[in-house]
This record gives sequence, structure tokens and C-alpha cells, in this order.
Amino acid sequence: MRHGRPAPIRPSEITPKEVWLDRRRFLQASAAAAAAAGVAWPADEARAQQLIQPLAAPRNGAFQVKDELTPKKLVTTYNNFYEFGTGKGDPAENAGALKVRPWTIEIAGAVEKPMTIGIEDLLKLPLEERVYRFRCVEAWSMVVPWVGFEFNKLAAMVNPTSRAKYVKFVTAEQKDTMTGLRIPFIDFPYVEGLRIDEAMHPLTLMTVGLYGETLPNQNGAPVRLIVPWKYGFKSGKSIVRIEFVEEPPKTTWMLAGPSEYGFYSNVNPNVDHPRWSQKRERVLPGLFASRQTEMFNGYAEQVASLYAGMDLKTNF
Ligand code: MTE
Repeated sequence: MRHGRPAPIRPSEITPKEVWLDRRRFLQASAAAAAAAGVAWPADEARAQQLIQPLAAPRNGAFQVKDELTPKKLVTTYNNFYEFGTGKGDPAENAGALKVRPWTIEIAGAVEKPMTIGIEDLLKLPLEERVYRFRCVEAWSMVVPWVGFEFNKLAAMVNPTSRAKYVKFVTAEQKDTMTGLRIPFIDFPYVEGLRIDEAMHPLTLMTVGLYGETLPNQNGAPVRLIVPWKYGFKSGKSIVRIEFVEEPPKTTWMLAGPSEYGFYSNVNPNVDHPRWSQKRERVLPGLFASRQTEMFNGYAEQVASLYAGMDLKTNF
């Protein structure tokens, strides 16, 4: 473990044990195969691809969190991005290779005006900074100044039709740069989904930066989603395709562990994960579950009405 890092959550805590054991055997085998084939990632190209630039965006004071910001160093080195490995430090170490230019998002499905939009055009949209609490299903949280724009602004460009009931987010699958794609228990590309009203909610942020700069690759460059009232895994990284659909999309984590990860995945201290409590959380860089988890991660006032009348124990 690196100096000053909180103890990592073992992958065995987030996946069924038999899958985890299988994966370990697989990783050992694939590491040996890669070594035998002499695979190496060109470090210079990797650095050049990072393209981190200052991204000035006025802070929107309506979105604040009482706790202090999580240090940038931790936000950018303690990550989940399975395409680059399952360890918390793997994405920062390996995602430099991700090719983030050229980059487009294809927007399709139940829309009147399907389109493909380039990252340069997304970066020209009016951006704002919002401080959100970000709560991982692994019972830790961070407080991060994200830079982005509301997803509904993007939706307005394509005019969703009345058949658009859900939104599917498909993320990049780069076979030549992503070192973790062959984890046996996960289907790539990584897919996430929201109900249309969740996607259109003003809190749902298409995110292109953090801490006043463009996103580092390990945090989902060049564009990702942030849905602050849901567990972090709903916030897909490095999005390449957005589809407006009639049925709930089959999401990566639901396919990997249907009894553990539901479609909604709203932060809810009253519904435990089958293998651990969600009542409290570690506020990183803290080491202890010192904070009581709030309903909808503290955003109940804004989003509880989306779920009026629903049983959130069955719709977890
Ligand atoms: N997106 C992709 N494409 N691949 C992933 O493995 N992990 C998710 C989410 N988005 C993931 C992803 C999970 S489990 C979490 S907690 C957050 O990204 C972590 O975001 P962060 O590393 O910026 O904190």
C-alpha cells in the first residue's frame, strides 16, 4: 500500500468470492502471457494523451457541501476504472495510455435529431463548477469540485421522443490501451443507465473536469457522468455513446451481480448491500466510517419526489 493512502477495499468485497478467485487466476495467467509477449505501453505517448488543461468555470454556489473538499491528489489517485485494473491505484498508473483525442459521443435512439458531437464542441458549452458529495457503494465518500453541464442541455440538442423512457450510457472500449478489459466477470464496454427523469434532473452532470482542469484520464476523460444521489458506479467514465431507449438498459454491474447491484442504486442508508452496511461511510482520506450516510446522499430534497410511492427496498 502506498504511503498516506487509506486501506484499499479489497475487490473481494465488491464481487462474489467465486468470481474473485476466478479473476485472480485469470489475472495471473494474463500477466504471464503479457510478459511473454513483451507488451509495454509507450510512456511518452501516454503522457501526451493526457491533455490536462485549465478549465475556467464559475462555481455555482447553489451546489455546495459542508465538508471540506477531498484533496485533489486523492481524487486522482484513488479510483475505480476497471478497464485499467481493479486496484485503486491502477487507473492513475495505467490510464495515461487512454486515447482521448479524437473523441466523439454518438447520441442515438428515440430522438428526433440523432447526432455525433465532438469533445471540442462539448467544451465550448457554458460550463460551471459544482461541489458534490460522491458516495461509492464501497462505503467511502469524497467531496469533489466537478466541472460540467447538465445532461438535459445535451438532451435538448437531440429532442428525445415520447418513446425515450431510459438513457443508456456506453463507455469506451479501447483494446489497445485498456489493460483490464479481460476481467472475466465484467462485460465491456461498461454500460450504465438512468430513467429518463433521472437523466434530465438538473443534478445530473455531464462532467468534463475537476478542480478547475480537464478530467485526468483515470477520472474518466474526456467526458463522464456524475449522478450525485446514486452510488458512484452509476457515474460512467469516458462516454462514447448515449442512447435513448424504451426499456431499462442492462447495466454492467447488474449483469455482474444482480443480487448486489440494482438498476436504481440510489444512496440509501436503510438498504444494506448484501455483504456490508451502508449506514455509515469513510470520508476520504479518513480511515474510519465516521459519517452517517444520508438518504439520497444528502440530495433528498431535490430528488426524493422522483421515487414517490416506490418501494426502495425492492427497487434498490
Ligand atoms: N466507468 C467505467 N467506464 N469503468 C469503471 O470501472 N467505475 C465506477 C464509476 N465509473 C467505472 C466507471 C465506479 S465503481 C466508481 S466508484 C466511479 O466510477 C469512480 O469514479 P472516480 O474514480 O472518479 O472516483
